[in-house]
Amino acid sequence: MNNKQDLMDKVVSLCKRRGFIFQSSEIYGGIGGFWDYGPLGVELKRNVKEAWWRDMVTGHDDTTPPPGMPSAYAMVGLETTIIMHPQVWKASGHYDLFHDMLVDCRHCKARFRADQLQASQCPLKPSKHPGEHTTCDLTEPREFNLMFKTYVGALVDPESEAFLRPETAQGMFVNFKNVLATARVKLPFGIAQIGKSFRNEITPRYFTFRSREFEQMEIEFFCRPAESPQWYAYWRDRRFQWYVSLGLSSERLRLREHGREELSHYSCGTADIEYAFPFLPEGEFGELEGIAHRGDFDLRSHMEGKLVRQGDELVVELGPDGKPRHPGSGKDLTYFDEETQERLIPHVIEPSAGVDRSVLAFLCEAYAEDVVPDENGVPQPRVVLKLHPRLSPVKVAVFPLVKRDGMPEVAMDIYRELKRHWNAFYDEKGSIGRRYRRQDESGTPFCITVDSQTLKDGTVTVRDRDTTFQERVAAKELVAFLREKLGPL
Ligand code: GAP
Repeated sequence: MNNKQDLMDKVVSLCKRRGFIFQSSEIYGGIGGFWDYGPLGVELKRNVKEAWWRDMVTGHDDTTPPPGMPSAYAMVGLETTIIMHPQVWKASGHYDLFHDMLVDCRHCKARFRADQLQASQCPLKPSKHPGEHTTCDLTEPREFNLMFKTYVGALVDPESEAFLRPETAQGMFVNFKNVLATARVKLPFGIAQIGKSFRNEITPRYFTFRSREFEQMEIEFFCRPAESPQWYAYWRDRRFQWYVSLGLSSERLRLREHGREELSHYSCGTADIEYAFPFLPEGEFGELEGIAHRGDFDLRSHMEGKLVRQGDELVVELGPDGKPRHPGSGKDLTYFDEETQERLIPHVIEPSAGVDRSVLAFLCEAYAEDVVPDENGVPQPRVVLKLHPRLSPVKVAVFPLVKRDGMPEVAMDIYRELKRHWNAFYDEKGSIGRRYRRQDESGTPFCITVDSQTLKDGTVTVRDRDTTFQERVAAKELVAFLREKLGPL
């Protein structure tokens, strides 16, 4: 495929046609920046989250130090609320600082992110504008806070104002002491969380890439300050390899270290894992995940109050009355290190990934078109999703070749047996070629066909999605055969 936009259009169309992703509230015309996951999409998304949770949390070996690293570490999970105490966002800095600069078009009143406009001109088509459409149509840039605001309780007043979280991270910082007290973890250790976040993006776009409601998979990894540069490099490389292990090709994936001028005021290092999404111009990459060294910024903010830079120091910002402008909790969020008998504020490494962006990257990477022989040996073009088996929504489909001669009954028994192990799909409608092609488009790694030979010798045809190679396997060996081919999920 030579045209990137063409590829993107095809991925979007496949997502709708096969039930991966739909526009939210579509029958009412949709709502910008919100997306629904259909029957296949929800499986794919769950598989991405489960792969992450298994690889980062439950499957993690907390008894052996990773190669080259100073110590073993524990990983524990957490699920915190979407609405938190409003002071959380004031102390963290989001209330004052989590904004984009926006500009309005004076003609059509449309709003844009100032940094995304190439020229001082409204990018909408002149036909959208009443009257003349020339340059200098835009207002001066002004701040727009991205947090969705709501009210808790019956009264709509400033006292009951609350926010939908724009990241899951703060839930982990404010529970630092609860986790320490209950999970009996020692430094270094990580807390992981998967959950919805909300940002009132000015210009949601590129399909699900920039949405207003999305999911994040975040880790807050707490470590001793002196070891933090080593743990930063460890997480940066480990997270990059995770995408590679699930099939993102190394030429479309890159790790980009931020320059000093790009770093947040509290960060000693940040890297982005980026993917060359097909909706971006040639040579441009979009962020999948950020890995940030956050120092002690977050725990300190929740102890002392909102921090600001003063020279080389981070100090609590004071209001006109000389008290902290946005006070922290005042609670002790330090750690007592029994090894060194020292009290310290741990440093934090934060790998923060987007579920929806990962799903989109896996879909774009997996999309392929080729020509394969049909059941009569005639070459036919097909669309195939070459998803990693761990991510495939359906692992195996079972078909009777025809709807008679006892084949559906045998196929149904096989389907029921396989369903105990994997998400399996049964289909007896339409030509066998069409059934294969539908599964190719869904990313199903294997199709099993029961035919007349099955009735004689108990073997079935197993067809491989990527090669379309077919082989005969004894029906009673299928579970072992597929387990070997699919690998651990
Ligand atoms: N706690 C740090 C944090 O939230 P971020 O870079 O703002 O950092 C982390 O977000 C990840 O969340 C991004 O790399 C991206 O994958 C995802 N993300 C952020 N905004 C998003 C949006 N509007 N739509 C979809 N995904 C988004």
